[in-house]
Amino acid sequence: MLGKLLLTAAVVLAAIHGSSAQVELLRVCEYQTMSISCPAGQQIDIVSALYGRTSAQFCNFAAGYSTDCRSTSSLAAVRTRCQGQPSCSVPVSNSVFGDPCDGTFKYLEVEFTCTGEEDVRDATNACKDRSTDTQYRYRWDLPKLTGNSFTFQVQANNDVHVALSPQAQHQSAMYEIVIGGWANTQSVIRRTPQGKHHATTSTRRVVSPTEYRAFWITWSSDGTIGVGRGGEAQPFMQWTDPDPLLIQYAGYTTGWGSSGLWRFCEACSADIVLTLDLSWSIPQNQFQLARDFMLEFIGCAALQGHGIRVGVILFNCSPWTYFDLGKYPLNSSGMQGAIHYMMYEGGETRTGVAIRYMKDTSKFRDGVRVPRAAVVFTDGQASDNYAYEAGEARAAGIDLYAVGVGFPPLIDQAGLQMITDHSDRVFDTTQACMAAQKIVDDLCG
Ligand SMILES: *[C@@H]1O[C@H](CO)[C@@H](O)[C@H](O)[C@H]1NC(C)=O
Repeated sequence: MLGKLLLTAAVVLAAIHGSSAQVELLRVCEYQTMSISCPAGQQIDIVSALYGRTSAQFCNFAAGYSTDCRSTSSLAAVRTRCQGQPSCSVPVSNSVFGDPCDGTFKYLEVEFTCTGEEDVRDATNACKDRSTDTQYRYRWDLPKLTGNSFTFQVQANNDVHVALSPQAQHQSAMYEIVIGGWANTQSVIRRTPQGKHHATTSTRRVVSPTEYRAFWITWSSDGTIGVGRGGEAQPFMQWTDPDPLLIQYAGYTTGWGSSGLWRFCEACSADIVLTLDLSWSIPQNQFQLARDFMLEFIGCAALQGHGIRVGVILFNCSPWTYFDLGKYPLNSSGMQGAIHYMMYEGGETRTGVAIRYMKDTSKFRDGVRVPRAAVVFTDGQASDNYAYEAGEARAAGIDLYAVGVGFPPLIDQAGLQMITDHSDRVFDTTQACMAAQKIVDDLCG
């Protein structure tokens, strides 16, 4: 019977999360019934639920109504009826949720996603959206880890927990990393759930209830575990386990009063050195195109949220480091400013010397296996044997990419291809985000 009163009130469908699996928002006023359903083959994953009122905007607000009203059983009650189902309906009523504020006309607000094998959105986007509630209970639905790092974005009040385990289950021998515990003031690394703290770092407000924050965790065969913020090179917390566990799976949970929204994108920590030719053979306007390419490149969505670091080397007859890998967080105003204020120089072109300098002096991360790449911006005309140096750099494990800059008829495509050893690693100055995507695909795919 209640089903007949379907959704006559405000129903809001909103794409909250741009490119990844959509989180949908439904809002239904008290005394009605909320119906939720997913496309065939998919299941409901409740991300959040609120029965009560936190806004005057919806469902006939009247003077005297509270806007600080929430049933503490909102999420549990909705999950009980809907989690994992293809469809469900929930009476929006005190009989389900209790009455958190007598005399106030309430509403139910639910965020959910549809998940499942048939979820083409998960397949075509590199990101998966997940949610956790206030119960301390690890979820183990992520694929087996392949590299030496795990990255994620999370939105939570406090107590973001990540487990790194030899098996896809909660067990006493697994690493437990707490980020923003103790009321969002402290983070720790443990070797057993709820066990001893092996590293403790003060991290006030490291997580946020209103925005996604990106984090990375890396580990190495010597047992060193580092935990850092997205875009930052240095871990804010690190510990070396003298008796390292084999890390194969990651679990995640919140708790201690906090629920969480999580986004798992294909993990990719990588170091990328942009190496730019400033010689006379690059006309001023072409130099500006290269600079604009760099600015666009560091801002491309494909690079964000991964733990990617970017450094810049400039060269003419000799090369110099303009800024080191890890000096600035990716796409920070510091990095943008530095690139913006690069100066055109002139001089000879010695691309080979620059590539060798890049290989020998860049502060690539070691200790953990982090993919390395360099993008060489040049016209392919040089007074030295850069093909040889490019081969040496590639042999040293640095993937090379090239961007053709210079007086267009003089750009030596064959030369650029010789640097990269792959025709699909050569770009022009209009292809910044295409290049960024290609590099991420190559290094992390
Ligand atoms: C990078 O920064 C610029 C300017 O601050 C901004 O417009 C752009 O959206 C950022 N890129 C990403 C992917 O956040």
